[in-house]
Amino acid sequence: MSTLLDTLNRPIRDLRISVTDRCNFRCVYCMPREVFDSNHVFLPRRELLSFEELERLVRLFAEEGVRKLRLTGGEPLVRNDLEQLIERLANVHGIDDIAITTNASLITPARAKGLRDAGLNRVNVSLDALDDDTFKAVNDVDISVQTVLDGIAHCRDAGFDDIKINMVVKRGMNEDDVLPMAKYFHGSGHILRFIEFMDVGNANGWQPDAVFNAQQIVDTIHNALPLEAVEPNYAGEVAKRWRYTDGGGEIGVIGSVSQPFCGDCHRARLSAVGQLYTCLFASMGHDFRSLLRDGSDDDALRERLRAVWSHRSDRYSEVRASLAGTPIKKVEMSYIGG
Ligand code: GTP
Ligand code: 5AD
Ligand code: SF4
Ligand code: SF4
Repeated sequence: MSTLLDTLNRPIRDLRISVTDRCNFRCVYCMPREVFDSNHVFLPRRELLSFEELERLVRLFAEEGVRKLRLTGGEPLVRNDLEQLIERLANVHGIDDIAITTNASLITPARAKGLRDAGLNRVNVSLDALDDDTFKAVNDVDISVQTVLDGIAHCRDAGFDDIKINMVVKRGMNEDDVLPMAKYFHGSGHILRFIEFMDVGNANGWQPDAVFNAQQIVDTIHNALPLEAVEPNYAGEVAKRWRYTDGGGEIGVIGSVSQPFCGDCHRARLSAVGQLYTCLFASMGHDFRSLLRDGSDDDALRERLRAVWSHRSDRYSEVRASLAGTPIKKVEMSYIGG
């Protein structure tokens, strides 16, 4: 069978699967409490794809080229029995990497071991500050920084040796924490990645001047802890890599706004209800759940995927500036998983 490519010759390699739209945090850049309050209607259980449905889709997607899976949310660990899903997906032929992106607040030693035993390969942990006041201002919950640091330690103890820490940097929110975070994780063996605040969804009130950009982040760190650029691990890598010249390890900078990386984007996103999105900034998904639930056979599902991907032309981050001022209804981060 021919390789599935989009209109810009990009294959489908990664599938990010949102397993729930719920989260126990209310990060201001993702689920601001004014919008995600007690009136917000979260998805009822029956709407979510079941583990059987997810396994079937992943098997078909793997046949079309998907190799890497990332489970996201909301917060993926609030989905019951996530370990059982991981175990199923780890056994799908062709899948060679399964990761999660989590806020780590729910990771106990037993949970970390369970995830590892189920076949999870990698964990990325979101952490935006080291002091409790800033952490609370950003995440809007009564959870301490130490809880997250403990979650990271439990993952390490369970045998995860490739843990990345994600820090979203927003001007006026936590740009003063860039250097303290760099110093804290310098020499720790964990890769700290700084993420430019992005205009995902419509809830977070994004403005261009709230972006503390990749260059400013690198300059801030380099002045205190000299850095040198490192070659990408592979084409289309999300984070640009930098290494401390003193041997203190590596950091990453995700400059989706100032340094877009759409050219090699091989990522598809599946929402918890089975809508496939071909870009993080898409306004519309493609429904796979109805096919899963109306008795369609594997060929019909395969055909739908081939039709969607072969028409794909998304490169939102590269054309963002030219769209400025055009109101677009975009899917929320907590629905599509980042
Ligand atoms: P690794 O496989 O460990 O490199 O993970 P990752 O960086 O692909 O995933 P993660 O969930 O840790 O995402 C880090 C940040 O990159 C988040 O803010 C994501 O929203 C963002 N990101 C990931 N993929 C894309 C993408 O295709 N486009 C854009 N604009 N941002 C992305
Ligand atoms: N801009 C940049 N990163 C974001 N994330 C969530 N919302 C945004 C945003 N508006 C990050 C989270 C998590 C990852 C999946 O996406 O912090 O690390
Ligand atoms: Fe939850 Fe992650 Fe969104 Fe924060 S960024 S509200 S932890 S899903
Ligand atoms: Fe891919 Fe869209 Fe992100 Fe560009 S903006 S890298 S096309 S998900």
